[in-house]
Amino acid sequence: MTTHVILPCTIYQDENGIYEWLEQFPDSVRILILGCKRVARLGDAYENILEALQHFQTKIELISAEHPTEDQARQVHTVLSEGSYSHVLAVGGGSIIDLSKAALYLMYYTDFDEQKPHQRAENDSKPKLVAVPTTLSGAEVNPGFGIVDSYRNKKVIWDERLAPQDVLYRPNAFEGAPIELIQASGINAIAHCLEGFYTKARDTWCDALAYDALYLLIEWLPRLGSDDFTVSGTLGLQRASAEAGWVAYQSKPALHHAICHVLGSRLGVGHAIANVIMLPYVLDTVPKEAWGESLNRIISILQIANSGSGSGISKLVREFIEVLFGKPPRLGDYISDIRILPEIAKLISGLPLVNNHPIPLSPIDVEDILRNAL
Ligand SMILES: [Fe+2]
Repeated sequence: MTTHVILPCTIYQDENGIYEWLEQFPDSVRILILGCKRVARLGDAYENILEALQHFQTKIELISAEHPTEDQARQVHTVLSEGSYSHVLAVGGGSIIDLSKAALYLMYYTDFDEQKPHQRAENDSKPKLVAVPTTLSGAEVNPGFGIVDSYRNKKVIWDERLAPQDVLYRPNAFEGAPIELIQASGINAIAHCLEGFYTKARDTWCDALAYDALYLLIEWLPRLGSDDFTVSGTLGLQRASAEAGWVAYQSKPALHHAICHVLGSRLGVGHAIANVIMLPYVLDTVPKEAWGESLNRIISILQIANSGSGSGISKLVREFIEVLFGKPPRLGDYISDIRILPEIAKLISGLPLVNNHPIPLSPIDVEDILRNAL
């Protein structure tokens, strides 16, 4: 029997959402706030959260973690274990939310490799994860996380117990953030939708979510920072983030995300930027038939944003990225010596996600994709 779960978390999405969420707790509740240092500097979006939490027992840990590591997760796990917290409030983008999931994972398992369960781990009470997302990573709704080990390999781990229980979307979440950062994370969300349509692990029950998310992203990302961008834009993009994040979990990513993970752990390319750089080049390799019946509908959504010269999906996505970024970043901006490419391609080809790509690609083929993006 195949079962389908559609968005299992509770979503609070308005100005008073955090107060509604807090109403369910006594003042004695203990909350660890794990915040992204960059978000904390932004001002209002973060200050509002602290103000709402002022009557509760909180501890604040601010972390820079664009590529969260196992060591960072161990440190957060120690703070969590010593503080008897009932909740972890992760305020930030996908990296901070992933780091929180990784720290919680260590409450179930002794380490990231061996998956040896702690004795009595199932019965111990564990903090509940609450996400306050500031980008469109989708990490706020799904139970997966990526973590970089001491060999600079990124592991992707899925464990249903780690999905945030509640998501607090703030109406001012993007205020003060660089527009390109939100737009780049929007391309990550677009990748979650598109991979969801052609991956071998496709879950067709997620198609409706993917169409809706794609439409919202195409409609609102170009308007970010302009007078046309209203609160409906923030709410729409947040809904798209959640939908796309769930599609990525249910339908499982493929080669494109395998590439982005390795570029992140080995070359330090941020996940959102890696998506901007690589998505059109990976889409070039997806055969038309892999899209099935979704092809024409996706094209019609992508054409909303474009002046209309593109006809195929990869061309339309390339044009959309140019609409947002003008001259988008290139892989060559992050590589000082291209002799590293065969090794990077080999690493990518060894990842299980590659098997979800609709056609088999050799390490040489993957290297060609990387070269095209230089
Ligand atoms: Fe992603």
